[in-house]
Amino acid sequence: MSTLLVRDLVAGYGGLDILHGVSIDVGPDEIVTIIGPNGAGKSTLLKSIFGLVPPRAGSVTFMGKDVTGERPNRLVHQGMCFVPQNRNVFPRLTVEENLQLGAYILNADLRERIARVYDLFPPLKEKRRQPAGTLSGGQQQMVAIGRALMLDPKLLLLDEPTAGLSPAFARLILEKVVEINAAGVPILMIEQNAKAALAMSHRAYILTMGRNRMEGPAAELLENPEVGRLFLGG
Ligand SMILES: Nc1ncnc2c1ncn2[C@@H]1O[C@H](COP(=O)(O)OP(=O)(O)O)[C@@H](O)[C@H]1O
Ligand SMILES: [Mg+2]
Repeated sequence: MSTLLVRDLVAGYGGLDILHGVSIDVGPDEIVTIIGPNGAGKSTLLKSIFGLVPPRAGSVTFMGKDVTGERPNRLVHQGMCFVPQNRNVFPRLTVEENLQLGAYILNADLRERIARVYDLFPPLKEKRRQPAGTLSGGQQQMVAIGRALMLDPKLLLLDEPTAGLSPAFARLILEKVVEINAAGVPILMIEQNAKAALAMSHRAYILTMGRNRMEGPAAELLENPEVGRLFLGG
């Protein structure tokens, strides 16, 4: 069974459709990456899956259940977590308070989960009593991802997790995404750093102008000369 199955999704803003019938799958063990030019509708797709932009047609099935248009808080309860591009850490709260807030809906012992996040991102442990706003961009991204992990997600949606980061931090974050996936979390990710993203993904979709343009095993897309020329900058 697919973890996520999106079929013929149509969504947009006001009178305008941005997605014109997009279909994607994420399997239970996969990292799936969406690439495509600016304005293609990638963020709109994730927002529409996560109930932030209401679908106008099509369907979203999550772990066998139809969740089309379901509200974000209900999806979070079912294990779908979304880290938006703007990260949304609470700058005045400490790192640890940010992590605790990630799991405020759970009636669980958070200490073990916090320890797991610190194992994955050791710099956060060192800075756990500092306001999150004082951290570097890369470390704030760790907080944002860590907060999602506090919920023990069954699917993680990441919108450009390396945006605005130095090359070293971008590489580190992508390595951590691989580690999170290896621990059993399926991942659907948008990434501008297309070559690096394809190199670490199982499959990928190329989206242009709100439609599926190409898809396949990431390794094949990486070697495809047309993909290279049009989407990988050479
Ligand atoms: N809140 C919004 N209101 C109106 N138009 C929007 C909104 N958000 C995005 N758009 C438009 O939708 C199109 C797709 O945007 P987006 O999904 O952010 O693309 P991508 O993530 O692929 O760069 C763009 O033309 C953008 O201007
Ligand atoms: Mg975007």
